[in-house]
Amino acid sequence: MFQVKKEIDFANEHESLVIGIFDKPTIFDGRLADLDKIFEGQLIGLVKSGDISAKKKVISVIHTFGKSGAKRLIFVGLGNEMKFSFEFLKEALGRTFKKIKEAKLCETAIFLDSFTAGSVDVQDAAHAVSESFALATYQFKGYKQKSNEPAIKLETINVYAGGAVENEIRASLTVGFAYGRGTNSARTLVNMPGNKLTATEMANYAKELAEKYDFKVEILEKEDMIKLGMGALLAVNQGSAEPPKMIVLKYQGKDEWKDVIGLVGKGITFDTGGYSLKPKDGIVGMKTDMGGAAAVLGAMEIIGELKPEQNVVAVIPSTDNMISGSAFKPDDVITSMSGKTIEVLNTDAEGRLALADAVTYAKHQGADYLVDVATLTGGVIIALGTETTGALTNNEAFFEQVLEASHEAGEPIWRLPLFERDKERVRSSKIADLNNSPGREGHAIMGGAFVGEFAEDTPWVHLDIAGTATTNKEHDLGPSGATGVMTRTLALLVERFETL
Ligand code: BES
Ligand code: ZN
Ligand code: ZN
Repeated sequence: MFQVKKEIDFANEHESLVIGIFDKPTIFDGRLADLDKIFEGQLIGLVKSGDISAKKKVISVIHTFGKSGAKRLIFVGLGNEMKFSFEFLKEALGRTFKKIKEAKLCETAIFLDSFTAGSVDVQDAAHAVSESFALATYQFKGYKQKSNEPAIKLETINVYAGGAVENEIRASLTVGFAYGRGTNSARTLVNMPGNKLTATEMANYAKELAEKYDFKVEILEKEDMIKLGMGALLAVNQGSAEPPKMIVLKYQGKDEWKDVIGLVGKGITFDTGGYSLKPKDGIVGMKTDMGGAAAVLGAMEIIGELKPEQNVVAVIPSTDNMISGSAFKPDDVITSMSGKTIEVLNTDAEGRLALADAVTYAKHQGADYLVDVATLTGGVIIALGTETTGALTNNEAFFEQVLEASHEAGEPIWRLPLFERDKERVRSSKIADLNNSPGREGHAIMGGAFVGEFAEDTPWVHLDIAGTATTNKEHDLGPSGATGVMTRTLALLVERFETL
């Protein structure tokens, strides 16, 4: 896929050569000056005339008619050097790779040095190349009889590393590619319909991951859940013809099983709402209600690839939320694994019930820190829109680490408040310890607050991705549909984690 080469030689043959240009060059220097010499100064002339643009994300393709080894020069406008960032670079490269893919080229070269400025060094640029390549060219295969995969695929990227150490560039490409591919795996899981990705299939997928990366794996079956008293997850599954699964993966990167990070992902493979039935327009799309589980599995893939010195336990409660004569109902009172009793006021607030038992189980498995990720509430979409993931926490220092990881991953999160008065609302049932739906006011907070009751004093961050797990617009780093959001944030959190 990626071949690392040293100094660029413009005589080398390529289908295309990708070059970044910043605002507003009046002369080319360094290697670009050498390139321009081949064209007798015509390239800088094209910059001056505006045919080659340095404006942000504008891509100019110049055919070389045999003058240089590359058949095409692809100039990528990078705008103002002072405003250049890693995140912007990934988007600009993503757009470029999409264009190359559309042009059905199977190979390209890239002049890495031309994509560095300010805080973005050549290592970052290499990471950006492989991550954005994976993300931008992602396509969900789907189930059409006739494959929508192009016959010619962009398969080789020759990276000119200039003066950088080749092995270091290779390592950065590997890391970026792992991040991109892990995110794509999460996207694929989310894009799969509920009849294809059942809880059983998700468990099988987790087992395959475990085999590939040598994780310990445990799949709790319905009988195990009954023994452990997981009444909350079991209640959600009660109306289903599909058996529930509690999926547990363990990665041990330290000598001892301590300082364990627990990653908990909502794995509702389809959410009808249950007897608190969703309206018909609100049901379509609810195959994506396992976006949290997908992010956790995607992050575990990255962790498996990069093997950081950390301990991680991933816990995924999985079932669909269906209606039948045996389904749970509003007014039911259920007992969670923690012993806390819950009055069910709304069967559509099922995610927090599934997460409750998963969080308790993660703690039993030794989790010292917890992050739960869930497509939990429509309320978070009203509060924050579809670009920003909502967060809640019980621990400032742990939240800071999650926030930093999210910045670096380019996946924005924004914290919502969680005060004692908010907690009182989930504790306000007359007949049980908790209620699962204290009303629509601030209900993104209520969803998280409920999960927090089970995290108790363990440092915990809740991430509500109901708005960010999918997008209806194609973007520079992927198609419409699943985004794989929080995969990279979770993996980065684990990689960089420092015990509190
Ligand atoms: N799965 C939904 C949340 C959701 C909404 C995800 C839109 C993706 C897009 C969740 O289980 C749910 O239905 N939440 C209810 C909670 C309410 C009943 C308290 C909601 O947000 O309306
Ligand atoms: Zn629901
Ligand atoms: Zn749901």
